[in-house]
Amino acid sequence: MRLPMIAGNWKMHKSIKEGVAFVEAIKSDVADTDVEVLICAPYTLLQSLVKAAEGTNVKIGAQNMHYEDKGAFTGEVTADMLLEIGVTHVIIGHSERRQYYNETDETVNLKTLKALAKGLVPVVCVGETLEQREASETKAICKSQVEKAFSGISGDAAKTVVVAYEPIWAIGTGKTASSQDANDVIAYIREVLTALYGDEISEEIRIQYGGSVKPANVAEIMNESDIDGALVGGASLEPDSFVQLVNF
Ligand code: 13P
Repeated sequence: MRLPMIAGNWKMHKSIKEGVAFVEAIKSDVADTDVEVLICAPYTLLQSLVKAAEGTNVKIGAQNMHYEDKGAFTGEVTADMLLEIGVTHVIIGHSERRQYYNETDETVNLKTLKALAKGLVPVVCVGETLEQREASETKAICKSQVEKAFSGISGDAAKTVVVAYEPIWAIGTGKTASSQDANDVIAYIREVLTALYGDEISEEIRIQYGGSVKPANVAEIMNESDIDGALVGGASLEPDSFVQLVNF
C-alpha cells in the first residue's frame, strides 16, 4: 500500500515568522491524518520550520538543490546543506524551474541521483504544456521526462522517489485536469515505471497530482485509484485550507 502524501509548495512566499506561525497553527489539526504531510518552503525558512515541526508529523522540504557537492556555483545550495538543517525532502524539476531557470531533463536526473545518494526524498515534477496537450503529446512528454529523470537509478532507490504529475496549464490557473484525466496520465506514468523496474517496484512509487488542487476538489482527486497525493501551491498557503487538504 502506498502512503499518500499531501505536500504544500509555498514557492516564493512567507517570512520566517509567517511560516513558523503556520506550522504552529496546523500541527495539532494534521496530527491524526493517515497521509504524509510535507511543506516545501523557501531556503530562508527551512531551519526554523524544521525546529517548529519537531515532534510533529509535518515534514519539511526544499524546492530545489544543486547536484554538485560543492564549488563555484553562486546562489546554489547542496544536498548536504539541506540535510545539515534537518530537511528530508526536495522538489526537483518543478515546471517553473524548467521554464525560468534552465532546468533540463539532464539536470533533473543529476539532482535526483544526488538527492537519493544523500538520503533526501526527491519529489520529481513532470507534466506537459497546454500546447503539448492540445497536440495529444501528454503521454509522450511524461514518458520522456520520467525515463530521463530515472536514468541510472536502481530499483531500490527508485522506490523512494515521489513523482508529481503537474500539467503546466493547470498550475495557478484555477484549471484542474479532470480527476479522471489526471488518473489516466498517472496510471500511464506507472506503466512507464513498470517498464523500467517491473510491477513490484512501480507499485511502490508514489505519484501525486498537482495543479489548482484546493479543498473543494481534493477528495475527488484523492479518490482516484492511481493518484497518491497532491502537490499544492496556492491552496497550501493558508492554514485552514492546508488542514482541509490534509484531512480530505
Ligand atoms: P497551484 O496549486 O497554485 O496550481 O500550484 C501547483 C504547483 O505548482 C505545485 O507545485
